Amino acid sequence: MDQRIKAFLLVVLFQVSSAAAQTDPQDAAALNSFKRLWKNTPPNWNNPDPCNGNWVGITCNSNFRVISITLSSMGLEGQLSGDIGSLSELQTLDLSYNKGLTGSLPEAIGSLMKLSNLILLGCSFSGPIPDAIGSLKQLVFLSLNSNSFSGEIPPSIGNLSKLYWLDLADNKLTGTIPVSSGGTPGLDMLIHTKHFHFGKNQLKGTIPSRLFNPNMVLIHVLLDGNQLTGSIPSTLGLVKTLEVVRLDRNSLTGTIPSNLNNLTNVQELHLSNNQLTGPMPNLTGMNVLNYLDLSNNSFDPSDIPQWFSTLQGLTTLAMEGTHLQGEITSAVFSIPQLQSVNLKNNQINGTLDIGAKYSGQLQLIDLQNNLISNVLEGRGYSNSLFLQGNPFCDSSTGPSTNYCTLSQQSIPTYSTRPKNCLPPSCPSGQMSNPNCKCAFPYNGTLYFRAPSFSDLSNESLYISLESSLMNSFKTAQLPVDSVSLSNPRKDSDNYFDLDLEVFPSGTERFNELGILNIGFVLSNQTFKPPKGFGPFFFIGSPYGAFADLSSRSNNSVSIGVIIGAAIGGFLLVSALLCAGYYAIRQKRRADSVEQNKPFSSWDPNSSGSTPQLKGARWFTFDELKKCTNSFSEANAIGSGGYGKVYRGTLSTGQLVAIKRAQRGSMQGNIEFKTEIELLSRVHHKNLVSLVGFCFERDEQMLVYEYVPNGTLKESLSGKSGIRLDWTRRLRVALGSARGLAYLHEHANPPIIHRDIKSTNILLDDRLNAKVSDFGLSKLMGDNEKDHVTTQVKGTMGYLDPEYYMSQQLTEKSDVYSFGVVMLELITARKPIERGKYIVREVKMAIDKTKDLYGLHEFLDPAIGLGTTLKGFEKFVDLAMSCVEESGADRPMMSEVVKEIENIMQLAGLNPNADSASTSASYGGTGGGHPRHPYNDDLFDYSGGYPAYKVEPH
Ligand SMILES: *[C@@H]1O[C@H](CO)[C@@H](O)[C@H](O)[C@H]1NC(C)=O
Ligand SMILES: *[C@@H]1O[C@H](CO)[C@@H](O)[C@H](O)[C@H]1NC(C)=O
Ligand SMILES: *[C@@H]1O[C@H](CO)[C@@H](O)[C@H](O)[C@H]1NC(C)=O
Ligand SMILES: *[C@@H]1O[C@H](CO)[C@@H](O)[C@H](O)[C@H]1NC(C)=O
Ligand SMILES: *[C@@H]1O[C@H](CO)[C@@H](O)[C@H](O)[C@H]1NC(C)=O
Repeated sequence: MDQRIKAFLLVVLFQVSSAAAQTDPQDAAALNSFKRLWKNTPPNWNNPDPCNGNWVGITCNSNFRVISITLSSMGLEGQLSGDIGSLSELQTLDLSYNKGLTGSLPEAIGSLMKLSNLILLGCSFSGPIPDAIGSLKQLVFLSLNSNSFSGEIPPSIGNLSKLYWLDLADNKLTGTIPVSSGGTPGLDMLIHTKHFHFGKNQLKGTIPSRLFNPNMVLIHVLLDGNQLTGSIPSTLGLVKTLEVVRLDRNSLTGTIPSNLNNLTNVQELHLSNNQLTGPMPNLTGMNVLNYLDLSNNSFDPSDIPQWFSTLQGLTTLAMEGTHLQGEITSAVFSIPQLQSVNLKNNQINGTLDIGAKYSGQLQLIDLQNNLISNVLEGRGYSNSLFLQGNPFCDSSTGPSTNYCTLSQQSIPTYSTRPKNCLPPSCPSGQMSNPNCKCAFPYNGTLYFRAPSFSDLSNESLYISLESSLMNSFKTAQLPVDSVSLSNPRKDSDNYFDLDLEVFPSGTERFNELGILNIGFVLSNQTFKPPKGFGPFFFIGSPYGAFADLSSRSNNSVSIGVIIGAAIGGFLLVSALLCAGYYAIRQKRRADSVEQNKPFSSWDPNSSGSTPQLKGARWFTFDELKKCTNSFSEANAIGSGGYGKVYRGTLSTGQLVAIKRAQRGSMQGNIEFKTEIELLSRVHHKNLVSLVGFCFERDEQMLVYEYVPNGTLKESLSGKSGIRLDWTRRLRVALGSARGLAYLHEHANPPIIHRDIKSTNILLDDRLNAKVSDFGLSKLMGDNEKDHVTTQVKGTMGYLDPEYYMSQQLTEKSDVYSFGVVMLELITARKPIERGKYIVREVKMAIDKTKDLYGLHEFLDPAIGLGTTLKGFEKFVDLAMSCVEESGADRPMMSEVVKEIENIMQLAGLNPNADSASTSASYGGTGGGHPRHPYNDDLFDYSGGYPAYKVEPH
């Protein structure tokens, strides 16, 4: 067996045996499933129990329920599965700054009735924001910004009546902004929300007039960088609490409503880069305005408004390209806090006089491309003044000509300086902190979306920011020594960006806990920047310096990814349908407290303590019913002695096969429990894995991973449309042998399958074999070391004659059945056909002096007759040894595995590659050779479960 898998299995087994679990089993199952699905979970997630083992980033309450998951900046990779829905006590979920988290946000998130903070900022989630998010009635803080979410803003968000923070910015959202109408909710209902951050999306349509009303308490409305059209609704002027309004970079038209002037608390107003028309607005009433940008609109030509000089708090005035004309008066420049004036591309004429009382903070006057003919000198102003493209520059001589070149603008620089010490030179990857100690910083970028200032050269800004950052970290008792800021800049969105480095205290590196707590302080807006910085967000970089980086879990690669890959990304449509049902169900479930407990119907008197599961999920009957369309015939994909098998799609999009026990074939509670406990522990890439189970209302169901390419039987009979050449057959034999060997020799306790046959061997999308249906397998108890006496079960043709006679079951019975499957692999015949038994037929026909042992007439033509079947004779020898009369003469499964590996090596094949990548062609793609029709009775068979999709070409 592959070393890596072996190591993994050891870990699994160790965990099973040492678990003294206390975490609620439902919660533990969900977390274990994340652990399997995610790469780079913190190392101490190897402790057996999440709550008891103090898993980093997990907080539990006294009932051992998980109430908080904060894993910011952990470098997680993978997807958020629907298992999240079972953490019904969860209040905080922060997965921010994990760029490797992808896929869609599962509908199941809607069942977290206690969730108050949902923070997924700076990940790579995509797909629509699920409508079910509107069920999270306790949600206060919702931050989905800087992902790749698409689709429309779900109107159901309007139901989140406690919402304080709503940030959907920097995604790929389309459609219009939803408002309530009739019975449909909308964002206008959010009368406790202070933040609407929707910038940098692809929102279309008008800003609905209904969006705003006087009952709202919004302070930040950020709709910048969308594709919004129509006019600015006058209802905006009703929201008196507004402090920051960014509507810039859209396609807004029409006149600015005059009542905007009523917004007397607005400090930052950005309406630039639209197609606004009509008169220049009168903003006299906005007397605390700091930053005004009306640039690049099509207002009626107007003189420079008088009201500028009444806005005594202005730091920044930008009216580039707004059809201003006439002379500019010196009163404009005397506004005391004024830092920059940008009036370029207008028709300002006459003489420029900045006056004697101009602002001492003035850094920039940009008047390029106007009609200014003269400049009054002698005012002592020596900062930037740009006059290129004015008549003045055509004729000017003398000292003023330097206003006619662009060379004078100073680029702001800032970088936190060492505090009275000499920075040492540090080892690679480390940096000197402001106290001159070398360490590995945690760093990232702060983005200020609407600062009140435009002068970035003012050092006091940075110093106040540093000290407020340090205050926040100290208040949160985080091990932070110091912070450093650098590289201040305005980006293309007109945001103010700044790099941040955070240094650990007393050590050279942070541990996981330190990083995720710092991340949370920033992602959850616990840190409040000083006044004037306005709304901000932070994007953390991955921290590459964890001490135990090499020991961090990568185990998801061995199992999770394989399963994930096998399940693939198909059937999204039905996934969404099913997810919808699921959300409704989840809602109901949350309403009913008893239902909430997975094992509420678990009677300890008759069934023992609740099951201890590894990763397997508990499903309700309703959930499985909805996901199979009420167990419809269309979804029935197989049946057997146990009952029927249905295909279903979980809310995550994961396809599953659901085995539903028939009445009458149900096991006792203890047996069922033993079985799910056992199955949940069996993880091997050649065994179909258990996803979960349902035990409710006289129902026993097992939910397995869905294996897309159906049974080996179907491929051999041509039903599935997949042609198995010799190489592929060898790989199928090897895979199933490995799966069986694992059951016999590595599972604890060992498992005898009892029903090995070609319908119980499934093929995944890479044609790897997966042994299924060990649900009715027999465990080898301690007191019955070598055999178990049982009622004989199995399938005629595969049944070990010795077991049949003696009723004593051993692993060797599986070896016998496997030998029959090997013969089936070369002949594609049923074991018993027209009264003839394949084992006897082949045994009698073998002539070792002949090529292919003289078995030509038995061989399946699809095997590739005419090509050399390398190793064929050895394969037949092995099969014959497996079907020896006496079990003692048959090899162990591990010996079978070794021998098949030998055969493959002799045939020049790598036993550890998978089939699809190494073999020539899928049947049908090569053209010319006979095709097996892909017909409607695909699902009409019994046994394992079949392919749902194999396209014949
Ligand atoms: C708001 O502005 C409008 C028009 O500019 C004006 O008629 C109205 O009285 C103002 N309302 C308040 C409450 O100030
Ligand atoms: C602007 O509005 C104020 C009232 O807010 C008013 O007194 C003033 O006359 C207006 N100015 C112009 C030019 O319309
Ligand atoms: C400046 O422009 C205004 C309006 O376009 C015009 O009335 C005025 O005469 C001009 N002044 C000068 C000095 O050209
Ligand atoms: C982040 O930290 C690393 C050292 O760990 C450093 O090399 C890098 O320059 C930092 N990046 C920024 C933007 O500060
Ligand atoms: C940050 O998180 C804590 C704990 O979840 C919460 O109490 C606090 O209100 C949050 N801060 C903000 C601004 O939401």
